[in-house]
Amino acid sequence: MTYDDLIDELEHGSKHLLIFGRAGAGKSHLIRAFLEQTNRCVLVTAPTGRATMEISGSVTNHSAFCLRPSVAFPWEPVLTREAIEAIQMMDTWLLDEASMVREDIFNTIDSLLRRVRGNSAPFGGVRFVGTGDLWQLPPVTPELEATYVAALTGGRRKESHNFLVSRAFAKPEVFQNLAIHELRGSFRQEPDEMEFRRILDRVRLGSVVQTDLDLLNSRVIRRNPEGIPLLTATRKLRDFYNALAIKELPGKHFVSEPEVNWKEREEPVQGLIDDEPAAQTIPLVVGMRVMFFWNHPRRIWVNGTTGTITKIVTSNEKVVARLEVLIDGQETPVDVERQDFQVFVPYYNSTQGKDCTKSVVTITQFPVEPGYAATIHKSQGRTMESAIVDLGRGAFAPGQLYVALSRVKSFKGLYLATPLRIEDCIVSQTARAFYERAWSKIRLVVPT
Ligand SMILES: Nc1ncnc2c1ncn2[C@@H]1O[C@H](COP(=O)(O)OP(=O)(O)OP(=O)(O)O)[C@@H](O)[C@H]1O
Ligand SMILES: [Mg+2]
Repeated sequence: MTYDDLIDELEHGSKHLLIFGRAGAGKSHLIRAFLEQTNRCVLVTAPTGRATMEISGSVTNHSAFCLRPSVAFPWEPVLTREAIEAIQMMDTWLLDEASMVREDIFNTIDSLLRRVRGNSAPFGGVRFVGTGDLWQLPPVTPELEATYVAALTGGRRKESHNFLVSRAFAKPEVFQNLAIHELRGSFRQEPDEMEFRRILDRVRLGSVVQTDLDLLNSRVIRRNPEGIPLLTATRKLRDFYNALAIKELPGKHFVSEPEVNWKEREEPVQGLIDDEPAAQTIPLVVGMRVMFFWNHPRRIWVNGTTGTITKIVTSNEKVVARLEVLIDGQETPVDVERQDFQVFVPYYNSTQGKDCTKSVVTITQFPVEPGYAATIHKSQGRTMESAIVDLGRGAFAPGQLYVALSRVKSFKGLYLATPLRIEDCIVSQTARAFYERAWSKIRLVVPT
């Protein structure tokens, strides 16, 4: 089967589809090609704002299905009129980066599709098409939500919390009506990068050998070259690099403190917001690189959009009232103001007799963070000319090293801050188990 045959299958077929493939196999590209010519009514979603940037017209699962941040309980979503209309009209639900979608979120979407469409068939009778790569990073479950997600999903380990093991996907009628395709192309790296491509494949499947590591480690540098984005394993390391880069910036340095308003004082306070980007004190300097961490309601920016601060407007000597940011690839800067962020937590609602979520705190802050370094988790789906990868004390998640190394187009665009070790190559057991189970169903698709 070829890529063109698969586009034809997307247009005319009726089976649910999983479209897998290595990083850079052209999964997102294939979806764009399909959407340009389709007559079907397709709702395209992705788990993160960053992932929606790969396909224009796509939106996050949270915005398409009106989910709250935090755990997704099936009884919670209150749909807007637009969401209901879109759900009633769609005949295909196309989910990019499906492998990053958590089981509770997938189940909730399935139950609301069935409810809104008044159809008890899987996904309310809609055709499901999921694309992604099981060998890349699995979904993230924040510590606070882990116990709830575990309870909702029968206590499975964090790593297995992806949609494949969800109740909605595991139904026999879904598996029977499912076709699985593995794209065999490799478009991100140039054709003369054969050796690099082969090493990446071995990192992906966990079969790297010492000579692969030796070759990769020839890219270790002593001093980070300037102007090259950093990808880090941890948020701590990201913050360190960002602070370092900002210190060097000439011009007046401002800070914006978050304004934090707790709704209920007795909540397990500070720890809850420690990792929230909105709760951080943000340094602001004209010329500073920034990354947005929130989706603008009119999608002027999304979580992951990058740009440079061109102006800082103060209301008095110290307080920053407004920013102007030139988003990468655009010609005119946009105004950025402080906004309110709600933080939701799961809790047991004794009146309703079930688990729910509620907002416990409002944080007012600019929706940007320093943009010199980003975590590897945030980089999934991106194509980059070059990157410096810093694993710090080592990789800790399945697929993490693979995602990091596979962002760049060429071997010479890759720089390593620390030498890689064989232990950094962690592969997903969920992926292994799924490939073993579904082996006979998987069809290979070659570039047209
Ligand atoms: N059929 C194709 N022809 C030419 N270029 C392509 C093709 N498919 C993909 N590309 C290019 O290769 C790069 C990687 O493609 P894409 O982002 O679609 O890969 P992906 O499989 O979605 O990767 P990831 O798993 O990292 O999300 C992009 O720059 C894209 O434009
Ligand atoms: Mg992609």
